[in-house]
Amino acid sequence: MSTHVWLSRQLRRARRLTALVLAGLQDIWGYARGSGLLNDDAPAARLAQVLKTAHRLDKGLALPEPRAGFGAPVARLLQLQLATIDRSHWAWQQGCAALERHQHFSFGSPALELSEPQTRAAVLKEARGDFGAVVRSRRSVRQFDGSPLSMTALWRAVELARLSPSACNRSGARVWVAVDAPVRERLLRHQDGHQGFADRASAVALVTVDTSVFHTVGERHQAWVDGGLFAMTLVYALHFEGLGTCCLNWSVEPKVDRALKRSCGVPPGEAVVMMVAIGGLPAHYTVAHSPRRPVHEVFRILDKSGDCVDPEAGEPEA
Ligand SMILES: Cc1cc2nc3c(=O)[nH]c(=O)nc-3n(C[C@H](O)[C@H](O)[C@H](O)COP(=O)(O)O)c2cc1C
Repeated sequence: MSTHVWLSRQLRRARRLTALVLAGLQDIWGYARGSGLLNDDAPAARLAQVLKTAHRLDKGLALPEPRAGFGAPVARLLQLQLATIDRSHWAWQQGCAALERHQHFSFGSPALELSEPQTRAAVLKEARGDFGAVVRSRRSVRQFDGSPLSMTALWRAVELARLSPSACNRSGARVWVAVDAPVRERLLRHQDGHQGFADRASAVALVTVDTSVFHTVGERHQAWVDGGLFAMTLVYALHFEGLGTCCLNWSVEPKVDRALKRSCGVPPGEAVVMMVAIGGLPAHYTVAHSPRRPVHEVFRILDKSGDCVDPEAGEPEA
């Protein structure tokens, strides 16, 4: 390799590394400013603290054998946190209800009556719809019929997406939907990957997560997990409603992220997870071949000593 080629390669790497470090610093700054890490007194952060603490109590009641007297310090913490939030907010009622359940438990009520009882038969009956068919028939759609989006269908899909799990049930995910062409265009202008199809979608959704619900350094990546789970449910729910969707990456540098937020009023403290193009399915259309990795590349089993074994070698021991 000539010195010139070597030098230009090293320079390119140095430029990429500098860009990565700068983007990382801006991400850290964004998390520090938007999350509850430093802004632990902001109303949204206080609400999230109530939800998290209430969930700690409710989770304790749903354990196989809740310890008698468990959670007294957590209940005291919840009482203090409840005093800091607006009583007209639904989180206040939720916090009070969790506190009351915990009190009943402390006074001897069985935990079984204080959580949400389920029966295996009923759950299996509900869960055993043809999920495989739903999953297999969902594909990224890049051809739309141009029909207007049904707000009822969208509402139903968001209602389901809301039920996605989230860390300590703080439910930070939000979805912003643009239907009008100029607004859709304003969002898409910042996205690289929609060209040639998303302008024909009936709506463009923006999945975000309000980072003010997180308050520790360890949670700095939680928005991507909670937001990803929310987005997946949303996409399946839209598919179930008969709508076509295509996830659109939000793999951008901080300056593009800021520009998007400025253009549509998304607050700086909301982490943008992805966009989703949504539209009606044409009677006939094609989707891209998207082969997946074989199961044996994806699936790893840890044996008794914690070593990785080949899943095809046999069924794991029960
Ligand atoms: C987070 C995420 C970002 C994506 N971004 C884009 C995109 O910008 N443009 C696009 O055409 N497809 C995008 N896709 C769609 C993927 O290409 C597609 O999901 C993958 O090829 C699998 O195909 P399938 O969805 O039809 O099963 C994205 C998917 C995900 C999950």
